[in-house]
Amino acid sequence: MIDRPTMNIDGEEWTRIARSPEVSERQGFRVELDIEHDLALFRVDGIARAVTNVCPHKRAACLYDGVIERGTVTCPMHAWQFDVVTGANLAGGGGLRTYDVREIEGGVWVRSSDIA
Ligand code: FES
Repeated sequence: MIDRPTMNIDGEEWTRIARSPEVSERQGFRVELDIEHDLALFRVDGIARAVTNVCPHKRAACLYDGVIERGTVTCPMHAWQFDVVTGANLAGGGGLRTYDVREIEGGVWVRSSDIA
């Protein structure tokens, strides 16, 4: 596993998982931390967002590669759509796990306990 920088924010440890320029409005960015934590990062209205990269339909790890449109991502496999901010499945049913994100000092950070 890559050694990632950590910092204390409000009494909790956060881990940097990406650099800010890696997360764009146009394309998702995959951060595969380990088998349990495979994340897709997106930027919506300037704010970095993180959800699981694994689609609940067929467990395909491909959401980072989906089409981004108005805050949603469309799975490239069978076109299920998800709200990137809330993780909601737009057709109903199982949604995506979301992760709290902070963007500080040119980096994108998630709570270390969320990826442990
Ligand atoms: S695997 Fe995502 S819609 Fe089927």
